[in-house]
Amino acid sequence: MPQATYHFPKGFLWGAATAAHQVEGNNTNNNWWKWEQDGHTEGMAGLAADWWGGRWKEDFDRAAETGQNAHRLSVEWSRIQPTPDTRDEDATGKIPRHLCGGLKERGITPMVTLHHFTDPLWVTERGGWETEEIVPLFEKFVRKTVDALKEYCTLWCTINEPTGYALNGYIVTGVDTFPPGKNNMKLAMQVQANLIRGHAAAYRAIHLIQPEARVGFAHHYRSVAPHHAWSPLDRWVARNAFTAINLGFVSALAEGVMRSPVGSVRIPEAKGTQDYFGFNYYTREYIAFDLRKPGALFARNFYRKDAELSDFGFLAFEPEGMFEGLKWIIRTFPNLPILVTENGVNSADDSLRPRYLALHIHQMWRAVNFNWPIKGYFHWSLVDNFEWSFAWKYRFGLWGLDVDTQKRIRRPSVDFYAEICKENGLSSEMVQKYCPEVFEKIFPS
Ligand code: BGC
Repeated sequence: MPQATYHFPKGFLWGAATAAHQVEGNNTNNNWWKWEQDGHTEGMAGLAADWWGGRWKEDFDRAAETGQNAHRLSVEWSRIQPTPDTRDEDATGKIPRHLCGGLKERGITPMVTLHHFTDPLWVTERGGWETEEIVPLFEKFVRKTVDALKEYCTLWCTINEPTGYALNGYIVTGVDTFPPGKNNMKLAMQVQANLIRGHAAAYRAIHLIQPEARVGFAHHYRSVAPHHAWSPLDRWVARNAFTAINLGFVSALAEGVMRSPVGSVRIPEAKGTQDYFGFNYYTREYIAFDLRKPGALFARNFYRKDAELSDFGFLAFEPEGMFEGLKWIIRTFPNLPILVTENGVNSADDSLRPRYLALHIHQMWRAVNFNWPIKGYFHWSLVDNFEWSFAWKYRFGLWGLDVDTQKRIRRPSVDFYAEICKENGLSSEMVQKYCPEVFEKIFPS
């Protein structure tokens, strides 16, 4: 049996990612809270993982004890600026002093996301990201927040998965619908364009406050492949899906033009506004041409028939899609550092997570081995948290969470990931110990 360790470069960041609304609890002043009250989700965020109540301390202790040296968290706009004209100093103070400071005290590098799916209700009432008026509002919030956090953090993510925000909120597929739940392709593109403008404004604002800042956004890279590679129609719909899902934001940052299947929009100020590429990867889909789906531009999407699926069939195991996505990014933005800002799987009994982790870290190592500048990996997530439309049904945490008692449950993946972080690599012994079933795939004899 081969014995080897796939090492990562010195200084590699190993951590987990979380988002405010998903972990803080009692977030009652944003669009998601309202969406939950209106009955659109399978449950409520409620107390979530009770970070606002102080339980972040025990979770950060656990992260530090298990070798993590970085953590990606987000700030909640609706707490910091509960109304257009007020700023909650306590809420602003609590984040830098407690959360980011708490990370630094534990030797963990904070990475702060400034927008992770939620908007204050007053922003929604003004039309949210549908109008360009949001851009200066967001920029102002960013300036204030970065000013308050600048002594703790230099690594910023402006907006998490902006394309997901636009598509899930404005094109109803019946699965994982986000607020406002409209169904309007034109509006979706308008929202995406405004998110790009907001990102570009935030990028510049952050650099004015903190010249040494490293600023980017987090892109949900979804691998898409035609059902039949020989079919021109399948290839056409797959190309459209790739453009809709992957290209909009990326093309705006690469060339100043937002590409979409229904036309392009020039946003010249967005060109070059990133210091690293934030890459979220979960799965790959196959796309077939289907005349019955004009609303979806004739695309029917599904997972590969023989792919292993996560709980409730939410994600398919397609680790090669991660390598393929990293390759696409490196070709689009040569030499730009890359951070894997999310990757993970919903597996409540942890039976799938160890092999998901091993297979994806192996793909990331393959990319590193080509000398592609990948600088870190953030597992989604540290502890089970509120999973948007699916509420508590999908469990993504390394640690489990008993929502009623707030008790954390140590899953075997905790120990596996700890070994990876401490070794700064993935070894054959680890794979043999935690997921021997994929040993041959990762360390072929
Ligand atoms: C989002 C997270 C979410 C995760 C798992 C990502 O798309 O950024 O907020 O919990 O996927 O679905």
